[in-house]
Amino acid sequence: MNAADFSAFCPAPKRAEVIEVCPRDGFQNVKAFIPTATKIAILDDLAEAGFKTIEVTSFVSPKAIPQMADAAEVLTEFRRKHVGIEAVALVPNVKGAEKAIANGAHTLNFVLSASESHNRENTRRTVDESLTELAEVCHLTGASHVHASVATAFTCPFEGDVPKDAVIKLVDKIIALGCKGVSLADTIGTASPRKVYGTLRAVKERFPQARVVLHLHDTQGMALANIMTAMSLGYNIFDAAAGGLGGCPFAPGAAGNVATEDLLNFLTALGVETDVDAGKVLNAAMKLPKLTGVPLCSHMAALTMCKTGA
Ligand code: COA
Ligand code: ZN
Repeated sequence: MNAADFSAFCPAPKRAEVIEVCPRDGFQNVKAFIPTATKIAILDDLAEAGFKTIEVTSFVSPKAIPQMADAAEVLTEFRRKHVGIEAVALVPNVKGAEKAIANGAHTLNFVLSASESHNRENTRRTVDESLTELAEVCHLTGASHVHASVATAFTCPFEGDVPKDAVIKLVDKIIALGCKGVSLADTIGTASPRKVYGTLRAVKERFPQARVVLHLHDTQGMALANIMTAMSLGYNIFDAAAGGLGGCPFAPGAAGNVATEDLLNFLTALGVETDVDAGKVLNAAMKLPKLTGVPLCSHMAALTMCKTGA
């Protein structure tokens, strides 16, 4: 098969944007508290790799996620050291948004779910109540600083399949509020390429100009296949977590995100360019087990360990 045949088979974009989310999604699922200085050292390593955007932390109830109790310190230090990188903070409510702004977040990533049951577990609100709070957050900061993350955009741990119409309805409301973009998350990593294709095609048809980020967990090993599916529809912005860490404490069965080093290797193999240095990400990922106590879930890290005997 020559290159032209291959691009007809999978019309991958020329460039992709990779957003690093390990410091938020990866750490939130780690039980033992990672010392603040360690979090900052990991962020320094990741910042070195060339990401334009990093999700640095989340401003959530410390009772819900004790690991994020040092969000203010982590974000302040990150902003002081890494001036040119867009610092994102996840928030579930107005209180979190106020704290994130006070500590220098460039972008607030407001989380709500496409399914009622997960939204209630995760944020103790109905989806409508979360939307009302999202509107308040947009009013507070200016919607151009607000991105919305739609959790359970494909499947829900409590309700199963999430119909694409539920996602379209929610994205419609998010875009009407003027948010700068929207993430669609496979929160528990059980979406198939077929499911991803159906939802993403409908989203593309309805919102062709929207900035849509895909946030895919890899529980069933389908994240890269789902990313390939998304790229065939023209999507090219992906969240990923160094080392494949991650998971939502309020979504039973969720494994980590697609590992950033695996995604970068995949994109390189397809000839898709990014701004990120894959070697630096791999080095950062290899340090994570010692620093966080969490084993890696990453093909590239496993391969490196095989080769080096580390
Ligand atoms: N940041 C810090 N503290 C917060 C907060 C925030 N964003 N939101 C609420 N709190 C504090 C309140 O001040 C209150 O503290 P107190 O008991 O010392 O007075 C306590 O948390 C409870 O506040 P309340 O408004 O009643 O919240 P809740 O108990 O109904 O919880 C959420 C709602 C959204 C705050 C909580 O469910 C949450 O933080 N969820 C996070 C979900 C998450 O991060 N999931 C993974 C990422 S998708
Ligand atoms: Zn996630």
